[in-house]
Amino acid sequence: MQTLVQNASDILRENDLGTYTVPTHGLYPFQWNWDSCLTALGQAHFDEARAWREIETLLAHQWEDGMVPHIIFHKEDDGYFPGPDVWATGRDVPTSGITQPAVAGFAIKRLFDRAKDKELAAKMARTLLPKVFAWHEWFFANRDPEGTGLVAILHPWESGRDNSIDWDDAFERVPTEGVLPFTRRDTQHANPEHRPTQAQYERYIWLVQLFRSLNWDNAKLHDASPFQVVDPGFNGILLRSCMDLADLADALGDTDTAAKSRAQAAKGIAAMESLWSDKHGQYLCQDRRLDQLIDSPSVGGLIAGFAPIPAERAKALADKVTEMADKVSYLVPSHDPDAPDYDGKRYWRGPAWLIVNYLISDGLRRAGQIEVANRIATSSVQLIEKSGFAEYYDPKTGEPCGGTRFTWTAAMVIEFIAQSEKG
Ligand code: DGY
Repeated sequence: MQTLVQNASDILRENDLGTYTVPTHGLYPFQWNWDSCLTALGQAHFDEARAWREIETLLAHQWEDGMVPHIIFHKEDDGYFPGPDVWATGRDVPTSGITQPAVAGFAIKRLFDRAKDKELAAKMARTLLPKVFAWHEWFFANRDPEGTGLVAILHPWESGRDNSIDWDDAFERVPTEGVLPFTRRDTQHANPEHRPTQAQYERYIWLVQLFRSLNWDNAKLHDASPFQVVDPGFNGILLRSCMDLADLADALGDTDTAAKSRAQAAKGIAAMESLWSDKHGQYLCQDRRLDQLIDSPSVGGLIAGFAPIPAERAKALADKVTEMADKVSYLVPSHDPDAPDYDGKRYWRGPAWLIVNYLISDGLRRAGQIEVANRIATSSVQLIEKSGFAEYYDPKTGEPCGGTRFTWTAAMVIEFIAQSEKG
């Protein structure tokens, strides 16, 4: 185990560019939002100051309206597409114009709770808390204009689950006419069979061009987008962060932020019930444009359990994970392996991801589903022992896919092993 932790720490250091960490050299040469927040959890085991710095750097690039972008292009690198010229967001340090799962609130609370350097933790938490709160406020104002309690993603990249089967039908509404010619770079770094298709990329870029034509005005993007999906995993992460931010604000004596964050979490968690499917025994996405649930049993519905959901829902999600364990060798597949479009090697259409395992197992542990939480953790470490620190894995064979020497995979290994040593 100590060798694994050492190897994982080596990867975090190798991908560390001083004030931020790249997910992996080559394929992802910039700072990604939720990658960084989860990476900080791993870094904190050997350098707390560096861990805080990771999130501080991300939030230094928050937009004036509160949005925290999904990519910060700290320096030029033409090995990635779409780069700053495609996004054209007009920032001094270029950023993308969309966001990503709001895991920062959870991450800063966890860094704070575990800190050995309490003074630094209090200082950093006080500095970062209002920024994270502003991001949460931005979400509810701009991505939930009707006040349902749940926010929509407007681009599959926002979910982090880029080519999930969940988006396929809604994506049909996104045209490809008018997309300017482009050359993909991802397929030069990774096996094209393990990546999104060309047709999906054209739609990704069509949406970027649409938002760009609206000058990235977040007051306009939601209603203008043909793609508006309420993802239970995305919302689960946001709502958990709201709840954690409330607890953190209490600890820091900020009762106003605590009360507002707690109200956001309570409203959202109540609204999550509208996404529950008895047929699948899990949460589903909702196509907000059609006001319909999307009949797609993906891991988004299990990540929802990261939020403090009702106990009977957490129990059902634990049962679902147990059911999945009979279908694969390594938990947790990103899509039900029995579903027709399942593809065990193609990015988010089947592969297992360690960060997802971490979120699900953390939520289940919190809900008292300890056995299943431990099972996910054990399976995760076995997967890394067999196949190294890849971006994602075929859950049936354990084959490593996508990028190699992957930062957040390494960070999660450190977390899983530390958790198992704690018992
Ligand atoms: C990619 O480029 O594949 C990213 O997931 C988009 O952020």
